[in-house]
Amino acid sequence: MSGNINFILNKELISADLNPATVLLDFIRNKKLTGTKEGCKEGDCGACTVLTGEINSDRDEVIYSAVNSCLIPVQNVNGKHVVTIEGLNLPGKELNPIQQEFVNEGASQCGFCTPGFIVSLTGYFLNKGILNSGNVIDSLDGNICRCTGHNSIIRAAKKISDKFDFAVHSNGTRYKFLSENKIIPEYFLNIKDRLSKLNTFDIKVSSDSGKKSFVSGGTDLFVQRPDEMLNSEIIFLCNDSTLKGIFLNKDVCTIGSLSTVTEILESGIMNDLYPGIINFAGLFGSTPIRNSATLGGNINNASPIGDMTALFLALDSNVILSDSENKRTIPLKNYYRSYKTTERKPDEYMECLNIKLPEGNYYINFEKVSKRTYLDIASVNTAILIFMEKDVIKEIHLSAGGVAPVPLYLAETCEFLKDKKISRENINKALEITQSEISPISDARGSSDYKRMLLNGLIKTHFIKLFPEYFSEGVEL
Ligand SMILES: Cc1cc2nc3c(=O)[nH]c(=O)nc-3n(C[C@H](O)[C@H](O)[C@H](O)COP(=O)(O)OP(=O)(O)OC[C@H]3O[C@@H](n4cnc5c(N)ncnc54)[C@H](O)[C@@H]3O)c2cc1C
Ligand code: FES
Ligand code: FES
Repeated sequence: MSGNINFILNKELISADLNPATVLLDFIRNKKLTGTKEGCKEGDCGACTVLTGEINSDRDEVIYSAVNSCLIPVQNVNGKHVVTIEGLNLPGKELNPIQQEFVNEGASQCGFCTPGFIVSLTGYFLNKGILNSGNVIDSLDGNICRCTGHNSIIRAAKKISDKFDFAVHSNGTRYKFLSENKIIPEYFLNIKDRLSKLNTFDIKVSSDSGKKSFVSGGTDLFVQRPDEMLNSEIIFLCNDSTLKGIFLNKDVCTIGSLSTVTEILESGIMNDLYPGIINFAGLFGSTPIRNSATLGGNINNASPIGDMTALFLALDSNVILSDSENKRTIPLKNYYRSYKTTERKPDEYMECLNIKLPEGNYYINFEKVSKRTYLDIASVNTAILIFMEKDVIKEIHLSAGGVAPVPLYLAETCEFLKDKKISRENINKALEITQSEISPISDARGSSDYKRMLLNGLIKTHFIKLFPEYFSEGVEL
């Protein structure tokens, strides 16, 4: 399987007949751009971080994202600008200000992780509307250093961030300002023009080809079986623009299956509908994983601990499936049949999720416990959407992950709590029902008893966080 793939790698136009499942990291290193390192090849260490940039027509500029090149098939960078550490070097031997700050602070020892950190920091400067020391540290959440203990890196990152005030340099003038200050080389200023002339196609998915395996972001498939992907008959969804975007239509919010976790959590529409949803970002993977991982991938890998799945179960969403000709709608709460099996037929793909717009007085929350606080999948997760009328629960949707073979919608618990008041007694009765709805197993993420206890604690946390006024301090719920 091969196809013509066009993209710009640093300054160079790449137009090649490639197997679309070639891992970008392998392609880059074979081009002798060896600054991008291969560490874990599982999305965990960030040594392979590169930037991908694509034209955003709403903002009329190129938007860059830091991604793990070890998990991206080259098909997914078709039509984009790919920037490696070599593409950030200034002419001659002059260090750019980020590289210089790393030297000043002793933030590089063996140097294996350093290109990844510099690329992630450049992504931060290219992206963040407001720069501050909290944001800058968050932008490094996908990078690990085995030598320095991170303190010198954090110092370097904060210092370089504090040196510049980009708040005033919004769209249009921002890249010019970054280039004048040598954070990015001058050639970046022509990239929008060059990308707009690239020969790429909007390929609509057609499932009549007999190829029945779909790839979106690749963050699951390329961890699990990259070599197998090279020889598989697969359909890359990334070139179908009809699967992208988040939009409102009458009383429905539609989220395209190719929307990334970053796009969902940073979306203006989602943040207007569900204030605070942006705060869940820190609980999902890392910045580069969130920049690649899609909603379609999270829902359809059918993991019992998918975080987006838990969130959208509680948002009472509907899955829209298509086989290119016919569409059908299935409530997400009825989508999962058994472990890793959904109602989707092999020739169907998920087009989007639809959510009925919430009305009235409502609140959401998402909770997750994992072995590590960051960059880890859940032992148990849960989300809640609750509609209140005065002090009575008019409607409630609760999800739970990691406590059954499938992501669970806690139907009986929700039914019990409907039309009840928020009180210790009612919540404790509801939790007894929850315990009868779940069937966790003991595994590497914890014993069955531990997971039962965790879910109890997390559901109580929903109520305590959302309605602190009902629970006096120091008294156990
Ligand atoms: C380091 C790391 C950290 C992670 N952290 C988290 C985390 O914190 N929380 C979490 O939930 N997950 C996490 N993940 C898992 C993964 O990133 C997510 O599940 C992600 O949403 C998968 O999306 P994708 O687009 O990359 O999927 P892909 O790898 O492209 O696909 C995954 C599966 O879904 C199918 N598929 C994809 N799109 C469609 C579609 N539109 N229709 C039908 N089938 C489709 C594919 O065939 C495949 O079986 C992590 C992964 C890594 C590597
Ligand atoms: S090599 Fe470790 S994240 Fe890619
Ligand atoms: S400097 Fe050696 S891994 Fe970071």
